[in-house]
Amino acid sequence: MGDQEFLDTSEAQIAVHWQEEARFIPSAQFIAQANMTDPAIIDRFSLANFPECYKEYADLLTWYQYWHTTLDTSDAPCWKWFVGGKINASYNCIDRHLAKYKNKAAIIWVPEPVDEPNIVLTYQELYNRVNEVAALLQDFAGLKTGDRVTIHMPMVLELPITMLACARLGVIHSVVFGGFSGMSCGERIADSGSRVVIAMDSYHRSGKLLDHLEKASPALEEAQKRGQTVDKVLIWQRYPHKQPNKAKLVAGRDYYMNDLLPDYVGRRIDPVPLPAEAPLFLMYTSGTTGNPKGCQHSTGGYLAYVAGTSKYVQDIHPEDVYWCMADIGWITGHSYIVYGPLALAATSVMYEGSPTFPDAGRPWRIAEQLDVNIFHTAPTTVRMLRKAGPDEPAKHNYKFKHMTTVGEPIEPEVWKWYYDVVGKREAVIVDTYWQTETGGFLCSTMPAIHPMKPGSTGPAVPGIHPVIYDENGQEVQAGSGKAGNVCIRNPWPGAFQTIWGDRDRYVSTYYEKYNKDKTSKDWRDWPYFTGDAGVKAEDGYYRILGRVDDVINVAGHRLGTKELESACLVVPEIAEAAVVPLADEIKGRVPDIYVALIPGVKPSKKIENKVVKAIETTIGKIARPKNVYIVADMPKTRSGKIMRRVLASISNGRDIGDVTTLANPDIVADIQRMVQGN
Ligand code: WTA
Repeated sequence: MGDQEFLDTSEAQIAVHWQEEARFIPSAQFIAQANMTDPAIIDRFSLANFPECYKEYADLLTWYQYWHTTLDTSDAPCWKWFVGGKINASYNCIDRHLAKYKNKAAIIWVPEPVDEPNIVLTYQELYNRVNEVAALLQDFAGLKTGDRVTIHMPMVLELPITMLACARLGVIHSVVFGGFSGMSCGERIADSGSRVVIAMDSYHRSGKLLDHLEKASPALEEAQKRGQTVDKVLIWQRYPHKQPNKAKLVAGRDYYMNDLLPDYVGRRIDPVPLPAEAPLFLMYTSGTTGNPKGCQHSTGGYLAYVAGTSKYVQDIHPEDVYWCMADIGWITGHSYIVYGPLALAATSVMYEGSPTFPDAGRPWRIAEQLDVNIFHTAPTTVRMLRKAGPDEPAKHNYKFKHMTTVGEPIEPEVWKWYYDVVGKREAVIVDTYWQTETGGFLCSTMPAIHPMKPGSTGPAVPGIHPVIYDENGQEVQAGSGKAGNVCIRNPWPGAFQTIWGDRDRYVSTYYEKYNKDKTSKDWRDWPYFTGDAGVKAEDGYYRILGRVDDVINVAGHRLGTKELESACLVVPEIAEAAVVPLADEIKGRVPDIYVALIPGVKPSKKIENKVVKAIETTIGKIARPKNVYIVADMPKTRSGKIMRRVLASISNGRDIGDVTTLANPDIVADIQRMVQGN
């Protein structure tokens, strides 16, 4: 793909150009109780104090052995934080809280069916269950420090319990979002080299009890095809002992956890003291080429970073009731449902199902019932709840002090509904910008220090020093109104360590573009390239426009266009496929698909359906396209490259520009007629 086309088909190009907005000031009540009100934090975390400033975050944790070197750059750009330190994440999220908080709710789980009771897990009970599961993983599954385990589970209590049990042993967990298909899961099982898979039989979503176990066989088959044998599948049950669909189990390989656990009741497993840089987990994310990348996160650096940002950006105190409505299968759930909040002894709410089940008042009823005071969700959900029930929040007597948005830009109009109607003009809002790779927040206002500006993520968080570069590596100045590539000048403890098993890809994707000297051991020579376009206003606030690569952000979830295109090619009738982002009122973006058929095959609705089905089975329902257009030919350059830019313009009803130099300019008008009906 040529550079021009690369930029023109990107999300950034179809970003809306919002007006500069007025600022909103945090309330005096919020400031009075906030964890961080001292503007000096910005100076304490200035580049002049880097990297030692991060001691402040590391000191929120309990170390078995204190570290001696804050940042070791000898293996640049694989940064090592808090070297010499020994730590365990499970200990920090559970054991150390017991003396003071054993009877406090650690997690309150809300099932989707309204007639099922919530489950309140105290820190003591979390401790018991994590220990028992850790004992089972160690003794029955034979897992030990450094092994990888793939966990394919929905939003049930057993998910964080399993993650923390792995962390206790130093087993590296790789949680695959429950909505991903079995094949996607299999690809990740193989890439991570997991010989143990932890699954779930079923869960409730949008009023239905879904069979989740049906994804296990295709997952294992796919893993096997890629050379990875799984020798144990451990299955949690939504209703223990009640739905033992044993027919599906393979003897000697598949086991129900509830059948095994009685042997481990009362067992205790000492948390393993791990080097700070031991990997805690892998989280796969889409990239520009076909296969997803396993972002490897560390134990000490990651935990310090999510604890620090949970405390100061999320403003979590132990006495708060904090609810992040993300899925734990994404990075947001890892950092800001599980590890960050629990490291601070918070009460973290988990909800099993759909935000609009049985109606758009559900989140506000839950908030009222549990007296939630910190609420965290994605713009897609805010848009959905606004559309389905604009007046619902006013009917419920909850009171938020703080609200977060994450994962996509939020339109100022939607922001204002969130502020006025959901937050009742009392809650502060932080618009947090970050990525799977970054472990925690990159940009956000500090809630008690900075004013809020709708549509802008805000300045960088303390210790993060962004810079916007143009294609030639020149800095784009604040207030210039020009967009460029958002980069971070310095390393930070939450950043991923590498791509699992592919250091070269890590270096080339994130560091090569603006690297000044490949042999340098100085972090200043290695700016981190986010892959996002952004603009910096005069006041230092950033507005993130979207991806500059072939990644589409659908409802806050990243999908690689190449992954989608290869899924289409699984259908034998398809010769060529091109995927472009289409702007969508609720989801931000959705994929639009153009396919050309092999000679002799006639277009039909059946083929369109096959394409949709192929996407659902190879990737998952989240990737379902808005439209599948069967075209006679793709618009192509004379050298034969598909012009996705032209297709993206047609999908979005934009000017298609000059197409006369194409190899087949006539096809453009045909496609336009088909899509736009003119
Ligand atoms: C986008 C989610 C605008 C961005 C935590 C980034 C955002 C990608 C924001 C990462 C925001 C995330 N405003 N855009 N506040 N937050 N993005 O890895 O394009 O699922 O690169 O991590 O989402 O998505 P990921």
